[in-house]
Amino acid sequence: MQQLHTLFPTLVLEDGSFTLHEEMREVLWKNHSNHIYHEDNYQGYNGPDGYGRVLSHHDLDLEPLWHYIIGQCKTYVNLMGVDPTQFIYSITKGFVNVLDEAHGNPLHHHSESHLSYIYYINVPENVNQKLCFHDLRTRYVPWEGFSESTKTSPEWSSYQGNWWPIEIKENMCVILPGNLPHSVAYFDGDKDNTIDMARNVPLKIDPNKLEDLKRSRISIVGDVLLTTINTNEYPNALQPLQNWRHFT
Ligand SMILES: [Fe+2]
Repeated sequence: MQQLHTLFPTLVLEDGSFTLHEEMREVLWKNHSNHIYHEDNYQGYNGPDGYGRVLSHHDLDLEPLWHYIIGQCKTYVNLMGVDPTQFIYSITKGFVNVLDEAHGNPLHHHSESHLSYIYYINVPENVNQKLCFHDLRTRYVPWEGFSESTKTSPEWSSYQGNWWPIEIKENMCVILPGNLPHSVAYFDGDKDNTIDMARNVPLKIDPNKLEDLKRSRISIVGDVLLTTINTNEYPNALQPLQNWRHFT
């Protein structure tokens, strides 16, 4: 009998069950200047986090969305075989990412956090770049680049290659480990065979104009830290905030 062991996989959770998507998008349109506004009518490459707008998680009008996202973080913890009720979940940074059809996001990670979330609140059809996850570890394969250079199918399996693309859909929420490298990229040519990173041209939209935002792909993004409720239960985890001493 044959048995395949898919060793050392990484869990990325994708969910599409949020029921208040339309309502929350209306809230974002109403409050867009709080999340996205740039005083110089910004035409550069980086999104709102690049110019310091990282407090989106304090928008109380989006409260149902924050609770949904934290619920997904708890699901993630549970899927990892850990009791999700043993932690306080803290959103430490929240921002909005705005993307037109001509851009991607370069390879990066959020290793200062435990978990990261991406919620796609507005996805026009023409902005269809994929979200890619990258494995920068050494893979155990017959030789480096074995599958990338020789595989005969355009589809990936979990033990081929060192990056993994997923299609983006509106109302999709992704939970990933903060230290997992990721990017947003085009695929020119055969499906999943060619990666073309961010094109170095200015963003075509004006982030201050609501009509421009409505034809952009907008994701609500942020980072989460887990601290223990009970110090004695998980001494190796990040300890309760009230135990910390702060120095400057
Ligand atoms: Fe990211």
